[in-house]
Amino acid sequence: MSLANDEPGRRPRLDPAEFIKANMRLAAVPALPEIRLYTAHPGSGLRRLVDPHQSADDDAVEPGDDAPEPQPPYWAYAWAGGAVLARYILDHPQSVAGRRVLDLGAGSGLVGIAAAKAGARSVMAAEIDRNGVAAIGLNAEANGVEITIVDQDITTGPPPAVDLVLAGDVFYGLEVALRVIPFLDRCLAAGIDVLVGDPRRADLPLSRLRLLAEYQVPDFGDAKGAVARSSGVFRFEPDER
Ligand SMILES: C[S@@+](CC[C@H](N)C(=O)[O-])C[C@H]1O[C@@H](n2cnc3c(N)ncnc32)[C@H](O)[C@@H]1O
Repeated sequence: MSLANDEPGRRPRLDPAEFIKANMRLAAVPALPEIRLYTAHPGSGLRRLVDPHQSADDDAVEPGDDAPEPQPPYWAYAWAGGAVLARYILDHPQSVAGRRVLDLGAGSGLVGIAAAKAGARSVMAAEIDRNGVAAIGLNAEANGVEITIVDQDITTGPPPAVDLVLAGDVFYGLEVALRVIPFLDRCLAAGIDVLVGDPRRADLPLSRLRLLAEYQVPDFGDAKGAVARSSGVFRFEPDER
């Protein structure tokens, strides 16, 4: 396995794509048998990839002062919000067919993969986690679809040249919600439609959403066989206040 960012005094970082291929398994997503994703299993040792201070045998090295905060491996799971949005798209291909689509906060890329399979004209996936970027590329390839990946914080800039933004489970914390909402408002102002998938997490801006559909899907932390929770697909609407 090759290593990246080999700085003196630091454990080199693992190459994310090679790590994912070697340590995760391609498996169908519970509510989405049409889509297979590289999925973590008990032996994956994801921490080695996520925390650059962990070695392959897990003996910790003291991080330096400028050590980056390890990013949780959000990309390694299908979140309920993404799963419900992907299910909706596959069941309603007319929602994306022929349209240019952005999968915002793509994680594993499952929403963008669903959009590509359902006939989107083009799919762009925005993800700020470099491990997620690698996972999206591998997952897109495994599902035989093409996705253009944007590995920067797209929410700080102007709306991209798309017709539809798909936001699967991007309201998972207040800080990210406060960043995403103004971006989605700029998208609406530019004539771009926005669909949101979410299991009604605490920071979901419910007053801005109109429910389109509801599905029972498992969430990323649920144990195998756990009761699936109700999650909604919503249209994000302008603030009328
Ligand atoms: C909760 S996960 C959901 C992933 C996927 N959409 C799903 O439903 O399975 C949210 C993802 O958004 C990404 N993210 C957070 N802020 C972002 C930003 N400003 N631009 C792009 N991605 C972002 C995180 O790195 C994370 O992978």
